[in-house]
Amino acid sequence: MENFQYYTPTKVVFGKGTEDQTGELVKAQGCKKVLVHYGSGSVVRSGLLDRIYRSLDAAGIDYISLGGVVPNPRLSLVYEGIELCRKEGVDFILAVGGGSVIDSAKAIGYGVYNGGDVWDFYEGKRQADGCLPIGVVLTISAAGSEMSDSSVITNEDGWLKRGYNCDHCRAKFAIMDPVLTMTLPKYQTASGCVDIMMHTMERYFNQSDNMELTDGISENLIRTVMKNAKILMEEPDNYDARAEVMWAGSLSHNGLTGCGTGGGDWASHQLEHELGGMFDVAHGAGLAAVWGSWARYVMDARPERFAQFAVRVMGVTPGADDTETAVKGIEAMEAFYRSIDMPVCIRDMGIDVTEEQLEELAMKCSKFETRTIGCVKKLDREDMYQIYKNARG
Ligand code: NZQ
Ligand code: ZN
Repeated sequence: MENFQYYTPTKVVFGKGTEDQTGELVKAQGCKKVLVHYGSGSVVRSGLLDRIYRSLDAAGIDYISLGGVVPNPRLSLVYEGIELCRKEGVDFILAVGGGSVIDSAKAIGYGVYNGGDVWDFYEGKRQADGCLPIGVVLTISAAGSEMSDSSVITNEDGWLKRGYNCDHCRAKFAIMDPVLTMTLPKYQTASGCVDIMMHTMERYFNQSDNMELTDGISENLIRTVMKNAKILMEEPDNYDARAEVMWAGSLSHNGLTGCGTGGGDWASHQLEHELGGMFDVAHGAGLAAVWGSWARYVMDARPERFAQFAVRVMGVTPGADDTETAVKGIEAMEAFYRSIDMPVCIRDMGIDVTEEQLEELAMKCSKFETRTIGCVKKLDREDMYQIYKNARG
């Protein structure tokens, strides 16, 4: 078992109708002016935004709004948000949406608090001293940004998608009403479920010692999401299934499933971020498209771990040796992805990657040959190229 720190300062307010508490929760933060930040229209169409405004009005909160966040949120809107917050004296940001809105809010919060070019943090050039406080009303179970220390932004200049991890951005509170996720298109529900599973799988596959307790939590979490993802494909209004997935989404990325594991692998995420930056794919779908290729490429470095996953999570009958069991587990996971209409290769997302694009993806993912990724097997640019190539389909 590895040493670890576990820090989850976010107050979670979970359940039906909890969004009506928004005004009071914001008021308790003692702020003067709030930026309500949201996406491309789902919260307008569902009427959620109006209900949030009414709750803020009832609590006597002064606020302004900025919508327009798109999936794979853009740096240009972050700059616009920073300007707006400075001009209006905003001291609290309320993100109403999913990972993209929350991440955009975090980036705006860094920019306002620290000055200078906010992209520096995402390029690893400097560290933030703080962030404006953030509150969340979550509308999609997926990225886990409502409790994570992470924010991922896409710079249109070069279409680079980069993440920045730092505790300063952790949300003060997260309102999670599973009912709000019932308006999600099937594809977004499925993509979100893959992302949730992957946040635990990234931590599960490692080269460290592990904790039996963390393994048990992780295995159960993944099985629970798989079971309820299948239910939601047939019954999108099933409250209990929505609730199971929503809570799994937060627990999967708030650090719990990484306790004692030494941090995890995260190569699939790094590989996907380049796909998101270049082709604007849904994050979870992109993960499903590369995971099988990654798993086959690295599994010989830790066959016993892949075999444990195959038996305990995927329920496969063990083969003649760990390697055979591991392969069965990978195939079972791909069958699951297909069963919820998720891709198992890049072509399944309707993208025909050219040879030049494979090279470019690997070059960008290796940050122009300045880094390796992953820990199950350390991967350099050539390995990244091979994994993208095998994932091409
Ligand atoms: O913009 P609107 O109109 O709201 O539509 C969104 C968007 O099109 C829609 N949607 C959200 N809630 C809805 C809804 N549609 C109907 N009803 C609802 N209740 O769903 C689409 C996807 O939204 P988005 O916020 O992009 O989804 P997600 O939560 O999957 O976030 C993805 C982003 O988070 C990053 C990803 O890379 C990607 O950029 N990640 C952030 C992480 C973090 N901060 O900790 C970790 C993750 O690994 C991930 O990298
Ligand atoms: Zn993710």
